[in-house]
Amino acid sequence: MASGLVLFFYISAHLINHALGLVSLDAAEAGMSIAVEVWYSVPGTILLYGAATVHFLMALLAIYERRTFRLPPLEIIRIALGFTMPILLIGHAAGTRLAYDMYGLSSDYTRVVGVLWASGQQGWQLGLMAPGWIHGCLGLNFAFGRRQWFRQLRPVLFAIALLLPVFSGLGFIAMGRELAGTPRSAAAQEYLSPANTEQRLAIAQWKDNLLNWYFSIIFAAFMAREIRNLIERRAKGLVQVTYPGQTVSIPRGWSVLEASRSFHLPHASMCGGRARCSTCRIRVTAGQEHCPPPAKDEQDTLTRINAPAEVRLACQLRPQGNVSVIPIVRTARPVYRATAPRRSGEHDVVVLYCDFRNRADFASDHLPQDLLHILTVYVDGLSQAIRAAGGALSYVESDSVCALFGLDGAGEVCAQRALDAVGAVEGVIADLNNRLGRRESDRLKISVVVHSGHAAIGEIGSSEPPMVLAIGEAVDVANEMRKLAAERDRAFAISEQVYQAAGLIPVHDDEAVLHRPEGITTVFLSDAAPIASPAWTLHGKVNRAALLRRLWAGG
Ligand code: HEM
Ligand code: FES
Repeated sequence: MASGLVLFFYISAHLINHALGLVSLDAAEAGMSIAVEVWYSVPGTILLYGAATVHFLMALLAIYERRTFRLPPLEIIRIALGFTMPILLIGHAAGTRLAYDMYGLSSDYTRVVGVLWASGQQGWQLGLMAPGWIHGCLGLNFAFGRRQWFRQLRPVLFAIALLLPVFSGLGFIAMGRELAGTPRSAAAQEYLSPANTEQRLAIAQWKDNLLNWYFSIIFAAFMAREIRNLIERRAKGLVQVTYPGQTVSIPRGWSVLEASRSFHLPHASMCGGRARCSTCRIRVTAGQEHCPPPAKDEQDTLTRINAPAEVRLACQLRPQGNVSVIPIVRTARPVYRATAPRRSGEHDVVVLYCDFRNRADFASDHLPQDLLHILTVYVDGLSQAIRAAGGALSYVESDSVCALFGLDGAGEVCAQRALDAVGAVEGVIADLNNRLGRRESDRLKISVVVHSGHAAIGEIGSSEPPMVLAIGEAVDVANEMRKLAAERDRAFAISEQVYQAAGLIPVHDDEAVLHRPEGITTVFLSDAAPIASPAWTLHGKVNRAALLRRLWAGG
C-alpha cells in the first residue's frame, strides 16, 4: 500500500502543479522547479522509482495470484486502468526524465508543454492523466473505504477527485495558450527541428524498448499464471467447499472467495481480497484440518477483530481438502451479477426430516424461555451438521427440520452425504442431551427419516438465500416414514432406496413396507445411525486429536 500512496502523492502533486498554470506559466514553473529538486534528487529518485517498481511487481503478483478474473466490476476497472496507464506514462517519462538524464534537456513547463503543444500531442497528454488518477482514487477507496474518517470525508474527497484533474487540464491548456507564439516557445520549436532528429529518435527508441519490455513482462505474468493453473488442475485435483445450501468443487489452491465468485455466490469483500477489511470472513464448520494456518496479513486482521479460532478470511484461505463454511457478513446479491440462478426443476432428490418427538413433554416440564433456548441450540446444531454434509435446509419449524440433498440432481454421493448428516445429527443430539442432564425426562427424543425419490424443486420467497421447497413422491413417502418412526418409537428410519444409492448394506433393528400407488418402499428402522459420527457436537466437528493435544499441553 505504501508504494501506491507514494505514487498517489506524486501524481496529486503533479496535477496541482499543472493547475498552477491557471495562475500563470511562471507560477507553474516555480512549482515545477521545487518538484524537480525533490524528485530528481537521489532520495527522491529512489523513493519514486522504487515505489513504481514495487507497485508494478505487486500488480504482477496480484495478477499471478488471482485464480479467477470473475471480479466485481470496480476491481476489474481498477486493475485494467492500472495496467493501461504506463503505456502512456512510459512515453511521457521518456520525454522528460530520460531526456534530462541522457541529453540534459530540462523538464520545465516551457519545454515540455511547448513540445507537446507544437507536436499536437496535448490531447494524449490530457488523456494520460485519467486512467492513473481513477486507478489511484479507486485504490484509495478500496484501501480506506471502511474507515470512519474516510467515510466522513468522502464528499470532499470525491469533489477533489473530480476537480483536480479538471483544473490540472485547464492549467495545461492555459500554459499552452500563454506560450503560443511567444519567443519562449521558439526553443520548443527548435527542439522539434531536423537538427535534433537524432536525439528525438534515440528517445523514441528508448520509449519503444521500454514499452516492449513492459508488454513482455505482463505477458509473462499471464503465461506463468496459466501454467500454474494447468499444473494445479492436473496434479492437485479438486476440493469441495460447502456453503449453506450449496457445495461447489474448485481446484486445490483457490481461495474460498474465488470459489464464491466463480459460482456466483453472494460474498462480501470490500477491500478486494487484500486481507484488510475482514468483510469476507467465514466460519469454518468442518474441515479445519485442511486449512493452512493464517499468514501474517490475515492473522493481523483476525486479531484486530478478535475473531474466534474457527473464523477465517475467505480471500486468504486456500483449503487443501474439503471444507464447510458459512459466510458471516451478509450481502444481498452476488457482487457482479444482478440475479442469482434459481434452482428449480423436477428430479431425484434425497429428503431428510428430523423431528423433535417429545416436544410436548418438554413444553410442560420447562419454562417457555428455557424451551426457546433449547430449540435454538437444537436447530443451530442440526443446521450446521446438515450444511457441513452438503445439504440445503428446506424449512425449519419449532419441532422439525427438513433438508434436501442433491438439489442439482441426486446420486450416490448425495445419498452418502445424507447418511453422513444422519450420523452428525446423532452426534449433535447426544451432545445436547449430555448438556441437558441425566434424567430421562430431560432427554430430547428425535426421529430422523431419509428417503430418496422424485420431486419438483422450486425456490420460493424473497429471503436470501431463498427457501427451497420439494413437492412430490419423495416428500410424500418421507412423511409416511415419519409417522412410522413415531409409531414404532425408533430414532432412525431410512429407505431401501437411500441404502441402495449409497451402496451400503442396511442397518436395522426393525423393518416395514410401505405400499403406495407409485410402488413399494422398504423402510429400515434403527435406534442408532447407520454411520456413526461421534466427533460431531453442537458446535460442529471436534478435532479430537487437537483437543487432546491442547489438554495435554495444559491449554
Ligand atoms: C505501473 C503502473 C501501475 C500498475 C500496473 C498498477 C496496478 C495496480 C494494481 C493491480 C493494484 C491492485 C493490487 C491488488 O489488488 O492486489 C494497485 C493498487 C493501487 N494502486 Fe496502482 N498501479 C500502477 C500505478 C499506480 C499509480 C501511478 C498510482 C497513484 C496514482 C497507484 C495507486 C494505487 C493505489 C492507491 C492502490 C491501492 C493500494 C492497495 O490497496 O494496496 N497505482 N495498483
Ligand atoms: S476481502 Fe477484505 S479481508 Fe478479505
